[in-house]
Order: sequence, then structure tokens, then C-alpha cells
Amino acid sequence: MAPTGTGFERKSVAIVGLGSIGGVIAGLLSAIDRYDIIACVRRPVERLTVERPEGGIEVPISSLTDPALAKPVDWVLLCTKTQDTAASASWLERLCGERTHVAALQNGIGHDERLAPFVGQATVVPTVVYYNGERLAPDRVRCRRAGDYDFAVSDDAAGQSFAALLDGTSMRVLVTGDFKTLAWRKLLINAVANPTSALTLQRNAVFRREDVTTLCLALLEEAAAVGRADGAQLAADEPEQSIARLLSVPADAGSSMYFDRLAGRPLEVEALTGAVVALGERHSVPTPLLRMLLTLTRAASEGAPLLPRRSV
Ligand SMILES: NC(=O)c1ccc[n+]([C@@H]2O[C@H](COP(=O)([O-])OP(=O)(O)OC[C@H]3O[C@@H](n4cnc5c(N)ncnc54)[C@H](OP(=O)(O)O)[C@@H]3O)[C@@H](O)[C@H]2O)c1
Repeated sequence: MAPTGTGFERKSVAIVGLGSIGGVIAGLLSAIDRYDIIACVRRPVERLTVERPEGGIEVPISSLTDPALAKPVDWVLLCTKTQDTAASASWLERLCGERTHVAALQNGIGHDERLAPFVGQATVVPTVVYYNGERLAPDRVRCRRAGDYDFAVSDDAAGQSFAALLDGTSMRVLVTGDFKTLAWRKLLINAVANPTSALTLQRNAVFRREDVTTLCLALLEEAAAVGRADGAQLAADEPEQSIARLLSVPADAGSSMYFDRLAGRPLEVEALTGAVVALGERHSVPTPLLRMLLTLTRAASEGAPLLPRRSV
């Protein structure tokens, strides 16, 4: 934890996974110069550029590549794909003390259960991430924003601490009394739109096609029925609202699953479409279309890269 010798405590923040989402938040937190930021990475990085419509940021960044050198910190921001959570265990084990907060900047639901085996006594802070990140190079990310907020967190002590951590950055945090519904609302879109963009190899423009919209509406109906059975307060016209949200994202923005498919990386389908299908089974809600999407996306997840491998 940070020393307090001067009377002014600089909190320590470790970002595990300096990709599209981690790169943006690392850059924005570094820019306010309030915390000691350390990026936990597999390749060292010295500077980080965040491209934003309102103007870019370029900041120096300290990085660690060996988990054995990591020490307990005040905050861990876990920004890997969900399937890489277990692979991040060596970082989490060293970074977590009993006063540490671990914010999961990951899509999906059930963050507490996913992280519990790796964080000891630390407090897990589930988040919904709304901004769109794109890694352009190992030291360069682009941030696009859609909607009114960049994050949602629960209205409890841990969620409020996360909102306070981001004070002074341009990130807008919604502190909500119904986190479950917001997490499901995001999951609906991710479970349907991410595989659709990955399978069709198209950015958000694909959702402007009428036939794709019709198919997505049917998939969203299935997913919303599972969400309601799971306790989310989803509106009767939730699928239509989801389509409207999708269309509010710039046509040239791409989902991380789309970028992973291009690069031949494993697709984050189990925590998204897979989670909805599994919960459908548990709640006896039929999901035939989602099952088909899941099967095709699982198969695509094993595919070869479609672009020449770059350093990104
Ligand atoms: N991108 C978006 O717009 C967006 C929006 C909302 C939510 N999300 C969610 O946010 C989460 C992160 O997504 P992303 O798009 O930021 O993914 P990403 O661009 O692929 O970044 C993931 C990062 O994790 C790193 N990583 C993986 N295993 C690691 C390990 N063991 N140690 C250290 N670093 C490790 C990767 O490092 P390498 O570079 O070494 O591979 C990569 O830099 C996902 O759950 C995603 O669904 C994404």
C-alpha cells in the first residue's frame, strides 16, 4: 500500500491487462497525476497515448512484467478478457492484500464468483463498462463514448469508492441501486452483437442492415427472457431498446470480439452468449437461436488469424 509519510496519501493502482479497456483507463488515471499507477503487462510499455474525440493524452507509464515483483496495492483494475482471469492469477495473488479493491472491468455477469478464487480477502467491485476501446498499438488506444455513462457500479461502499477513484478524470460513473439489471442490459447486447460482428467480420455498421436487425431482435427476445427469469428488471421492449443503443454506437466502432476474430485470438463467448445459454438451461427458458450463435462462435474461436499478425 502507498506510504503516508507526507500526510498526503497517493493511492496505488495496478492495471492488469493494458489492452483496449485497460489502456484507456490507465491513460486517463495517469493524466490526473493523483495515483501511483503500475501497468502489469507481458511486454514493457513506457508511454501511453489515448486518442479521444475531445483531444489526445500522452503520458509516461510504469510497467511490470514479472508478477513476482508486484506488491499489494490499494486498487487493482482487472482489464483482461474474462477467459484470461485465471491466467492473471499470479498478478492477483501478489497485488491483493486485505485492504485491496479489485475492480473487474470485464463484460458479463457474476464478476464476484469469477474473481473470488484469485483475490483472497480483497473486495471485488463489479463494473459495467460502457466506453468503447480499441488498441491501435501496444502503446496507443482509442476511446469512443456512447451513451451517458462510461461505467456503472453498485450503490454500495465498494461502488462508491470506485466512483471516487475516477473523480477528476473525464469518466462518467453511474452509481446504481439496480446493478443486476444494468449488467444484464449490457449482457444482452454483448451476447448477441459481439458474436454477430465477429461472425460477419463487420463493425457496427452491420446492425444498420434490416435483416440483421430482425435476427438480432429475435436473439435479444430469447436473452431478455433469460434475464427476467434471472431477476433482472428488463422492460417489455428491452430488445428494441437494445437495438436503439447499438445504433447509437458509431458505425465504424468494432466489438472486441470482432478484433479478436481478425487476430485469430480466442473469442470471449463463454462469459457472454455461453452465460446466457447456461442460465437459460438453469431457469428452463428455451434459447434455440442463441445456442446456434454460440456453436458457430465457439467454432470461429478456434479459427486462424484473418489478418497478418501485427505487434498489437
Ligand atoms: N473493447 C471494448 O470496447 C470493451 C467495452 C466494454 C467492455 N469490454 C470488456 O473489457 C474486457 C477487456 O477487453 P479489451 O477489449 O480491453 O481486451 P484486449 O484489448 O484484448 O485487452 C486485454 C489485455 O489483457 C492482457 N492480458 C491477458 N492475459 C494477461 C496476463 N496473464 N497478464 C497480463 N496481461 C494479460 C492482454 O495482453 P497481451 O497484449 O499481452 O495479449 C491485453 O493487453 C473484456 O471483458 C471485454 O469484453 C471491452
